[in-house]
Amino acid sequence: MVSLGLVVARFNDAVTEPMAEAARETAADRDAVVVDELNVPGAYDSPLAADRLARRDDVDAVAVVGAIVTGDTDHDRVIATATAEKLTDVSLDRDTPVAFGVSGPGMSGAEARERIDKGADAATAAIDLAEELDRQTPDHTRHMSDAYDFSERIGRVEPSATLAISNLAATKEAEGADIVDLSVGEPDFDTPPNVVEAGKQALDAGHTGYTSSNGVPRLKEAIAEKLRGNGIDADADEVIVTPGGKQALYETFQTLIDEESEVVLLDPAWVSYEAMAKLAGAELSRVDLAPHGFQLEPALDDLAETVSDDTELLVVNSPSNPTGAVFSQTALEGVRDLAVEHDVAVISDEIYERIVYDADHVSLASLDGMADRTVTINGFSKAYSMTGWRLGYLHATDEFVGEASKLHSHSVSCATNFVQRAGIEALENTGESVEEMRDAFADRRDLLVDLFDEHGVDIDVGDGAFYMMIPVSEPGSGSDASGDEPRVDDQAWCERAIEEAGVACVPGSAFNADGHVRISYAASEERLREAVDRLVANDLL
Ligand SMILES: Cc1ncc(COP(=O)(O)O)c(C=O)c1O
Repeated sequence: MVSLGLVVARFNDAVTEPMAEAARETAADRDAVVVDELNVPGAYDSPLAADRLARRDDVDAVAVVGAIVTGDTDHDRVIATATAEKLTDVSLDRDTPVAFGVSGPGMSGAEARERIDKGADAATAAIDLAEELDRQTPDHTRHMSDAYDFSERIGRVEPSATLAISNLAATKEAEGADIVDLSVGEPDFDTPPNVVEAGKQALDAGHTGYTSSNGVPRLKEAIAEKLRGNGIDADADEVIVTPGGKQALYETFQTLIDEESEVVLLDPAWVSYEAMAKLAGAELSRVDLAPHGFQLEPALDDLAETVSDDTELLVVNSPSNPTGAVFSQTALEGVRDLAVEHDVAVISDEIYERIVYDADHVSLASLDGMADRTVTINGFSKAYSMTGWRLGYLHATDEFVGEASKLHSHSVSCATNFVQRAGIEALENTGESVEEMRDAFADRRDLLVDLFDEHGVDIDVGDGAFYMMIPVSEPGSGSDASGDEPRVDDQAWCERAIEEAGVACVPGSAFNADGHVRISYAASEERLREAVDRLVANDLL
């Protein structure tokens, strides 16, 4: 495989950009990779840029593209000739071929197509030359240096399956496809304007330096106040403010788990619990809630069989990603009894707490006996539509916070200063916006349940978050695959859904729930209808 460097001389941008695009397309058609692209203002600058690329060990050939049409044919010719001469000198060190695709003199605007083709010609010539000289990098092995002896730890985990689907959807959209993306885990609303304003004011006020590692005192106090509203006896010193709930979870696993510690997960489980547990060295035990309509209460006996004195940590996530299930008070009391009996620590991930419809959210740490064994995780991403701000927190005992804050201070130092100030506003002044978002999610959930019902798909619908798991049936059978019917490969179903119907969903197997796919209803009602119509039209329901 040839690794190509691309120099784009942006003198006449209207023509240059299509030339560059033609070069990129040609590289893709020829199975070459464009490893880097340098933009320079004009043709005179391109030899130096080409030289820089050509000297690099990971570049096999360089293509230079750009339009230098000034309207003065003689002038153009001078520039083109000078540039071409200079380019022949470059990179003699490595014998790296450089192909020159700068559009020549005397070409009028009417000949734009021809000029654009020169971009493709340059890439073709560069790749041909590299192949002739056998300067190809076989499967990138040349870039794989022995200096990187990757840790056994990093080999334990795979990239996030949910992000892989979202990336595929984004790529297809970039190629012009109309994709209804139901794979995303973020609300489709804007961050409430008063929160945005608070962030801007914090920037203007100069809140741009580090904060105390565990967070700005006023925010920690506001978080403690919020948690007291959940019935947790919280103090500001028992809080660590983190860049997202994910970091709070990561710190918790790292603080509690040793090699071979047992961690119990409730399946279907959010993808990152397994990854974080494995990174910390855990052995996983799992309890499957799928046969119980994704509810925990009917699975308490199974849980009792799994949790033992050897268990170090149990992870509870209510409302749940990916099922939307909200666990009952009785279920959580069952967890409490087991945790106390076997002296187990519990993570209670309550990040979807504010998106609950016909049920009551119960915080595990508020139950008798749980205050000193629960790490409560929460954050701003889902409740206030602030995913990109990266703000979350954990609450646990003083002692836990003392240990976890060592990792926190040595890794992230602190969460972003002005974002923390915006977080105070979110906690204190967004009641109405949160309710509007929650009501919209509730309407969408009901709409989807009705639409699936019309097509004979029966869903174990949850009372919170903005996800539901749909059982997938044999494509074309039109029948519901819940119950006893054989399940199909949910991965294959998702691939068909995106390729044929233009609908992106996440395979249930990513959450240990084979035969299901996760749908996020963080999309408008119109798009949700469109998605169901397309799935039906393509025989996927
Ligand atoms: C169950 C669950 N916990 C935690 C997180 C982390 O969210 P963030 O890091 O954006 O706060 C997510 C995000 O998707 C989630 O679904």
